[in-house]
Amino acid sequence: MTDLRSKLLVTRTLPQLSQARLDKGFEGVDIVQWKEDCAIPRQEFLKLAKGADGILCLLTDKIDAELLDAAGPQLKVVSTMSVGYDHVTVSELEARKIALGITPGVLTEATADTTVLLVLSAARRLREGVDAVIQGKWGTWSPTWLLGSQLTDKTVGIVGLGRIGVAVAQRLKVFGVKKFVYQGTRPKKEIEKEVGGEIEFVHMDRLLKESDVICVCCALTDSTKNMFNYEAFSKMKNSVVFVNTARGGIVEQNGLIRALREGKLGSVGLDVTVPEPLPTDSELLTFPNCIVLPHIGSGTLETRTAMSEIAIENVLSGIKGERLPHPHDA
Ligand code: DGY
Repeated sequence: MTDLRSKLLVTRTLPQLSQARLDKGFEGVDIVQWKEDCAIPRQEFLKLAKGADGILCLLTDKIDAELLDAAGPQLKVVSTMSVGYDHVTVSELEARKIALGITPGVLTEATADTTVLLVLSAARRLREGVDAVIQGKWGTWSPTWLLGSQLTDKTVGIVGLGRIGVAVAQRLKVFGVKKFVYQGTRPKKEIEKEVGGEIEFVHMDRLLKESDVICVCCALTDSTKNMFNYEAFSKMKNSVVFVNTARGGIVEQNGLIRALREGKLGSVGLDVTVPEPLPTDSELLTFPNCIVLPHIGSGTLETRTAMSEIAIENVLSGIKGERLPHPHDA
């Protein structure tokens, strides 16, 4: 007799509303879920994936040939609760005709907000100010103490003028930015209008040299991996505010550390690092002008709920053999 039930593996506990849906269950679907408060260990993942028709995973779960082999030939869909999918070996999925779902659009606002948060925090030396208060180093008001920089009349470089890049530019414009320059796979005339104001597609070298603030908003791909290395940092203004809310792998971290050590950068704000979590003994954490957040760009209840809901819809559609509402290649 053929087994008509499907197996769905979910690799983590989801935000409340989506978790409640999982707990209620879906007709004809047996759900297996890793519910510990940590990423699913690799061996456990390989074991639980066996026989799955659909896998709902996170950006912390590596989806490669080994995992797909462990799952078996019945696997129809991988749905990641993220817009980025650099943790997935797409060619392996394509070769096996397994659909890949992602969560585009819904995390644009939250991630852009976090980018602005880091730009302002880095530019205004938030970490040093907070540390000074806590450590009792707050003296009387001083005309020269903890002076940061502001966005008025500045040039901002956006690397990756996709949804998030545009949302970042729209937000920063309100702070009086004079000009945006951007880099990416191609000039995007149609999108430039959405930013409003002065905006120009420029060569990377120009972006590095002219920008007062640089925001990394692109995907991690073979061509963006380690794009920001020591040489790139050396071309920047030494007052630059450099912010990365995309993926840690876009920055060659030893090059960043060297540039910080040599005082080549004004301030840095990172929401992403290599590895994640960043070990507490990382030299990156020793620089007062470098603020590191624990990859919380999309971390609002609204956004994470919207992401998990899309991830569920993607995986259920895939299990039924239907077209995914949000495929990675839409
Ligand atoms: C994503 O979805 O790729 C984000 O990094 C999550 O914050």
